[in-house]
Amino acid sequence: MSTELLIKLREQGQLSRPEFRRLLAAWEPGLQAEAAVLASELREQHYGRRVFIRGLLEISSYCRRNCFYCGIRRGNTRAQRYRMSPEQILACCKAGYPLGFRTFVLQGGEDTGYPDELIRDLVQEIKSRYSDCAVTLSLGEKSFLAYKDFREAGADRYLLRHETADAAHFAKLHPGNQSLQSRLRCLQDLRFLGYQVGSGFMVGSPFQSLETLSEDLFFLSEFKPEMIGIGPFLPHHDTPFADEKPGSMEFTLFLLSVLRLMLPKVLLPATTALGSIHPTGRENGVLAGANVIMPNLSPQELRGKYMLYDNKLSSGAEAAEGLRLLAEQLQTIGCEIAVDRGDYPGI
Ligand code: 5AD
Repeated sequence: MSTELLIKLREQGQLSRPEFRRLLAAWEPGLQAEAAVLASELREQHYGRRVFIRGLLEISSYCRRNCFYCGIRRGNTRAQRYRMSPEQILACCKAGYPLGFRTFVLQGGEDTGYPDELIRDLVQEIKSRYSDCAVTLSLGEKSFLAYKDFREAGADRYLLRHETADAAHFAKLHPGNQSLQSRLRCLQDLRFLGYQVGSGFMVGSPFQSLETLSEDLFFLSEFKPEMIGIGPFLPHHDTPFADEKPGSMEFTLFLLSVLRLMLPKVLLPATTALGSIHPTGRENGVLAGANVIMPNLSPQELRGKYMLYDNKLSSGAEAAEGLRLLAEQLQTIGCEIAVDRGDYPGI
């Protein structure tokens, strides 16, 4: 029964909301294993054994938002704040290029102290110095004009998770000045402007249900992002969700496989949260269908300060200098690192 839903999803790239719900409700180790086999087949068909790497630069831990789950929320007075200068960021790119990075991801909180013009100029500078590299931005909700400026300066991709496609659930994860509607407006703007767009959600966030998750899958099947980031929710001790339980690695792996079946060419990272919840989380992610890993390229001394959740990994194979370790880990599962921009291969 549920196997048929996996096959139908692979054949049609789409299920109804009730079908998604049934598929998720049927989750058990046997079904998960079947999904992983089918998903790996598709990953292999479209990408071979190559895993793309992205150099992640966490450029600012200041944030004007107050998302209930996030450690760098404005209301967390204990969070350590920093802002990397453009020079610091360029120095990280300089270090990352010879390591093999051909995508730089500039991620940060919604930092009002980082003017859009500065970001724009920085994007332009990176693109002129590294013309064979892609620049991905992940800086939250911005105006259409800001997104347009960044795009014209050369930004190629933008990551903005929708977090949950259920408006009532969205309202339980965020304060009243944030809305799903506004998030979706941003995603539409980004697409209109020609970005490769990434979205996604946390697995096991508080108040998540099979209904809200079916809504997430349905939304993604319609929007068809070029990239999808999912990872387990992990509590942060200085947030309102400090005592909530973490999401499950296994369920995250199942969802990764389902996403690969739904959007066979999607760029799907095995996220830091997945690597943080289990020592082999990222390899398991690749085996479940993921094909992207985003090692941390930020300066060592800042890494401990970008704490979205407790025990966030930033060293070992998670770190850019740990690429050799990462390569070894990938080799154990028959995969290799690709020195490549790793763009979305088109429809
Ligand atoms: N656990 C897991 N993921 C988190 N994020 C933020 N806080 C947490 C947390 N506590 C994710 C959000 C956000 C991305 C940058 O990190 O989904 O979009």
